[in-house]
Amino acid sequence: MSIGKKDILKNIGLTIYRGELFALMGPSGAGKTTLLRILNLFDDPASGDLMFGGMLLNNSTFGEKNNIRRRMSMLFQTPAVFNTSVFDNVAYGLKIRKADKDTIEKKVGNALSIVGLAGKEKQKALTLSGGEAQRMAFARAIVYDPDVLLLDEPTANLDPANVAKIEEIIKRIRSEHGTTIVIATHNIYQVKRIADRVGILLNGELIEVNSKEGIFSSPLDARSSAFINGEMIY
Ligand SMILES: Nc1ncnc2c1ncn2[C@@H]1O[C@H](COP(=O)(O)OP(=O)(O)OP(=O)(O)O)[C@@H](O)[C@H]1O
Ligand SMILES: [Mg+2]
Repeated sequence: MSIGKKDILKNIGLTIYRGELFALMGPSGAGKTTLLRILNLFDDPASGDLMFGGMLLNNSTFGEKNNIRRRMSMLFQTPAVFNTSVFDNVAYGLKIRKADKDTIEKKVGNALSIVGLAGKEKQKALTLSGGEAQRMAFARAIVYDPDVLLLDEPTANLDPANVAKIEEIIKRIRSEHGTTIVIATHNIYQVKRIADRVGILLNGELIEVNSKEGIFSSPLDARSSAFINGEMIY
């Protein structure tokens, strides 16, 4: 994908399988967010094929893309917090999907209880702590039961207790809904705890895609092992 004259992503060949938890790793600026935005159909790649469930999206209409986008959800690296109540922040995705009032009440309540924020419905979202705001954003991302959940560094800047909470939520969503999850993360221990497969992005190129076991015990690319061992790679 190119923005202006700069190639941000190059030669990306990647299949995400239904129900898997795929971790996207790579140094800052490698292109993780850009790739997630393409998967979420926010940005179009400049060239190449993009498929969802066997359907080629290159020439699909806005309406067709919108239908697919509605089955997906992205938790942004810096989630926006609207200056309304926690309830209204979480209800957003249901309202734009025109869900009825009872459904909204039920689903928002359920999402808030999953993320451990039950009882905070009426609180102003801007008064939440950082960790709570992150969990609220998580609730907003899962409230409409997406088939695909794209998580952009959901635990960056959180203390270990909040990291553990978010990981529990991820595991629960997966086991209850079979959600396909792609997570961008810098946290190698997190990848070891929750991922099935791992892709390493370096300078916009996916240098390796491997099982979690493979990437940690016998990486195929020397740069992957350098990255995993915390060495600077470019
Ligand atoms: N809209 C844009 N215009 C110009 N350059 C962009 C744009 N979006 C991203 N980039 C550049 O593309 C590169 C990849 O950015 P991206 O945000 O995808 O990295 P990242 O892997 O998510 O990094 P981080 O770990 O810091 O979040 C960066 O060099 C960034 O400056
Ligand atoms: Mg990013």
